[in-house]
Amino acid sequence: MTTSANNQGTAIAHTNIALVKYWGKIDSELTLPYTGSLSLTLDKFYTETKVTFNEELSADKLVVDGIPQDNVNKAKKVLNRVRQLSGIESFAKVESANFVPTSAGFASSASAFAAMAAASASAAGLQLSSKDLSRLARLGSGSASRSVFGGFVEWLPGTDDESSYAYPLEDVVLTDIFVLAVNISSKKKQVSSGEGMKRSASTSPYYADWQKVVAEDLINIKHALKTDDFSLLGQIAEANAMRMHSLTLSSLPPFTYFEPGTLKVIKLVQDLRSHGVECYYTIDAGPNVKVLVQSNNLEAVKTALSEQFGATKISEAKPGPEIELLDN
Ligand code: DP6
Repeated sequence: MTTSANNQGTAIAHTNIALVKYWGKIDSELTLPYTGSLSLTLDKFYTETKVTFNEELSADKLVVDGIPQDNVNKAKKVLNRVRQLSGIESFAKVESANFVPTSAGFASSASAFAAMAAASASAAGLQLSSKDLSRLARLGSGSASRSVFGGFVEWLPGTDDESSYAYPLEDVVLTDIFVLAVNISSKKKQVSSGEGMKRSASTSPYYADWQKVVAEDLINIKHALKTDDFSLLGQIAEANAMRMHSLTLSSLPPFTYFEPGTLKVIKLVQDLRSHGVECYYTIDAGPNVKVLVQSNNLEAVKTALSEQFGATKISEAKPGPEIELLDN
């Protein structure tokens, strides 16, 4: 059995925003997705997680922002894999702090499970490659597989545990990009992303078309990144997000993550664009909107969003770094 000196590991991982979305699992036990996806890791929002294996514990414990959690099922999937790989038999305490401004409206599961994967592997004394860390993070939450890396990241869907992992895109020349997050609501969503994607994949008559669309979007968005084509990137991201949300509307029973404020941001982005201010929107499994913009239009878009929604509802981010292990 190998362990770190004090059975403890700490790591930081940043959140990411998907530009080509993951929306459906073939295998929910292993979190194997139907399609690939592509995201941008962001600099501002991150989770710091400490994992300690301790023989005196009688169960795995999870504390998030100081609050003990009842549901440890997803964390257990990551910890069980680490125990299996390392031979450690004891339970672990996971202490996690989210550095995501409450106004940002970002889900924290991507950064949380990426940080937990790196911290628990380190606590167990495992020397995992980034690819294997991505596979480990994936067991907790699909989008976490991408938060192991910085910048633009693609998650290869694969066909089994071994072949489903994310990697950072290397031949990217597009670097001038900002994300303005507009917080419409921080309320807990009624349909979790896991439940929502399951319903869409099993009941939306458009799900087969979605799989085709994603395959094309991935090819085209990677071309946009290689050729510094922000317009193409924005058009693909926006259309991909709307097509994902059309899966929710076409599910049985139908549902949507949009709220009235979501549509207001969409309309504002369209108006700005029609006045020559280039920007695009994308929306995850919630009502909050992320606006993509380059430096030349950043101030104009920020001002327009602040005027309509209030400056406190807007957070600005740019491309962020890969996972970081901290010394204990
Ligand atoms: C809309 O990664 O949160 O943000 O694997 O069930 O934990 P689970 O889902 P999660 O879903 C993310 C959905 C999305 C799109 C994306 O990030 O690709």
